[in-house]
Amino acid sequence: MNLTVIDHPLTRHSLSVLRSENTEAEAFRAAAKRLTFTLLMEATRSTPLTETTIRTPMEETVGYELGDVVAVAVLRAGLGMLDAVLEMIPKVKVGFAGVQRDEETALPQEYYNKLPDLADAHVLILEPMLATGGSLAWAVDKVKESGAMNITAMCVVTAPDGVRHMYERHPDVRIIAATFDRELNDRAYIMPGLGDMGDRLFGTF
Ligand code: URA
Repeated sequence: MNLTVIDHPLTRHSLSVLRSENTEAEAFRAAAKRLTFTLLMEATRSTPLTETTIRTPMEETVGYELGDVVAVAVLRAGLGMLDAVLEMIPKVKVGFAGVQRDEETALPQEYYNKLPDLADAHVLILEPMLATGGSLAWAVDKVKESGAMNITAMCVVTAPDGVRHMYERHPDVRIIAATFDRELNDRAYIMPGLGDMGDRLFGTF
């Protein structure tokens, strides 16, 4: 299983704020941003660096420059993780992947797809709720079709079905998450989860 759960106290605290049904949209968005900061340290572990030479006020020493990073936000809940990525990695390029479930076939159906140049970039896919794994696997298909090789998925909550699905379809993709929850209910919501991430971010109930 290619899943790393970040169990840092700051992550756990922000996750608890997100889980609570008493958290309103404004506080929910702030907690999603703070939690994403805590995931980013591990999610960017495979981002390449190039060595440079820099001068401190004292002498010359070795420095490092971050390679290309592309964040792909899976609409719409992935937008809740984007601000933290933009702040932490100001030169990041951003793509958007819009996918919805076809109610008849239950298969992921694309409604928007806009990706920047992915050649040689470390791609961070922002998909907070890894439930069945259909949307994330589809987004990974798209970035691989565009040439991405170094791909990390950043999730808030994961469930066994989604992690299994990803392992079968894309075993090379690392998944960084705040929790691995128990199961899906009969409507494919994660239990205990945090409800519908998009609705909670944007107050659309
Ligand atoms: N998407 C959500 O927003 N929540 C879930 O529990 C599952 C998928």
